[in-house]
Amino acid sequence: MTEGALRVLVTAGAAGIGLAIAREFAAAGARVAICDVDDAALAAFHADMPGHLAYACDVSDEDQVADLFADAVPELGRLDVLVNNAGIAGPTSLVEEMSLDDWRKTLAINLDGQFLCARAAIPHLRAAGGGAIINLSSAAGKFGFPRRAPYAASKWGVVGFTKSLAMELGPDDIRVNAILPGAVDGPRIQRVIAAKAQATGVSIAEMTARYTAQASLGRLIDPADIARMAVFLAGPGGRNISGQALSVDGDTQSLI
Ligand SMILES: NC(=O)c1ccc[n+]([C@@H]2O[C@H](COP(=O)([O-])OP(=O)(O)OC[C@H]3O[C@@H](n4cnc5c(N)ncnc54)[C@H](O)[C@@H]3O)[C@@H](O)[C@H]2O)c1
Repeated sequence: MTEGALRVLVTAGAAGIGLAIAREFAAAGARVAICDVDDAALAAFHADMPGHLAYACDVSDEDQVADLFADAVPELGRLDVLVNNAGIAGPTSLVEEMSLDDWRKTLAINLDGQFLCARAAIPHLRAAGGGAIINLSSAAGKFGFPRRAPYAASKWGVVGFTKSLAMELGPDDIRVNAILPGAVDGPRIQRVIAAKAQATGVSIAEMTARYTAQASLGRLIDPADIARMAVFLAGPGGRNISGQALSVDGDTQSLI
């Protein structure tokens, strides 16, 4: 990988885990670009992180992804790291009651988005002499997840995509890994827990207790824990790590 400050692109970097990743890379001295679909969050990012870059882009839209890379990479100067973070929770519903539109939207953002961004990034990573792609999967990428089938299918898909791409890009010294977070503290997990509580007829407090009990460590994950893993994978400590699905999930044993 090229010497000097890393040039990093984080998708869906204006909030949640993506913002934690952007901040951690910036704190490590990297120059960071993010994209997001939330204009207010993009404006807040501009204000919070001057000197870094933010673009409007829906990762499931081929033309928008092409524009993102055309704009961001020249501004960054080169590209060393792509963090494919964008992903939505999708519907909380039994498969037999689910619309095809809900299924397709989850796959389009969570899986097509990673494909589109990785495909656009590869020539730039190669031009930089190597680099890293980090794909956000989930504990739902190693377990079944009832009432969340499109999410689980997309996150298992991320692992298959990661392992295949790592084999294609190894000769170019481009490393490709997936991070599998457990339940990460923040607004999204509160929404997920509330939806699951409603779908199964239990209280939010009971569903929160069930979520934390899924992990041996018995607690939710901090977004900064995911961010530190991403920075490690992109740095010298990760130079011989590729094709891996790395859990940061407090030793999650199942998903309910
Ligand atoms: N939060 C968790 O508990 C958890 C657990 C495991 C895996 N993950 C994965 O981590 C990643 C980030 O999760 P999060 O909880 O921070 O998400 P989040 O729901 O908090 O959303 C983060 C950002 O994604 C943006 N976004 C949504 N759709 C987009 C699109 N099509 N294109 C670009 N940006 C878009 C949103 O505007 C938001 O700013 C996802 O891939 C998610 O599946 C999250």
